Amino acid sequence: MINILNGEYKLLELPNTCEIELDIGCGKGSFLSQLAKRYPDKYFLGLDLLIGRLRKLEKRCQKEGIENIELFQIDAWNLITIALPDECLSRAHVLCPDPWPKNKHRANRLLTSEFISRLACKIKLGGCLHLATDNLPYYEKMTDAAGQLSCLKEDASLLDDISDIKTDFEAGFAEQGIKVRHIAYKVVC
Ligand SMILES: C[S@@+](CC[C@H](N)C(=O)[O-])C[C@H]1O[C@@H](n2cnc3c(N)ncnc32)[C@H](O)[C@@H]1O
Repeated sequence: MINILNGEYKLLELPNTCEIELDIGCGKGSFLSQLAKRYPDKYFLGLDLLIGRLRKLEKRCQKEGIENIELFQIDAWNLITIALPDECLSRAHVLCPDPWPKNKHRANRLLTSEFISRLACKIKLGGCLHLATDNLPYYEKMTDAAGQLSCLKEDASLLDDISDIKTDFEAGFAEQGIKVRHIAYKVVC
């Protein structure tokens, strides 16, 4: 994987002394950077396909002295199927993923049953899966898929500490009066 902060290929090395949170499709990273500043003792992984967005977040980290985020340009599927060990995350966020609203593009959606199931395996017992979207049909699909997994139990309290932090897309939607629905699940087995 390419770590975009130092431009080097490296194996993913995770700290085993602190909690790890993952932001999939972090984009320009307003959410991730605020989260990392709020929890300086945690370690954060941000990934996205688009290098331009990651570069903006990289600059922000440098400007604001944020040192507990590691950024990767990688497809989320590759990360969760190849690179990430099971049960290593305390919280995983997939916020405002591309909604692919047209029927003919639905297959491009990230949050399928299989993706959610594989991602849940990467979260520790008692940890949190946090999903959000502005697109109601997508929300219904993702909550339907997550609801069928016996290892996940809905628990909104898992977002109490971060309910004030908005993503870049969410802030844009708020200006247009568009609601983003969030949902959190606890990993229970
Ligand atoms: C609509 S944007 C949302 C960005 C950010 N989460 C926010 O809410 O501001 C979706 C992001 O997911 C990224 N993305 C889409 N598919 C991805 C994949 N398979 N792996 C990693 N990132 C992906 C896109 O490049 C894009 O930056």
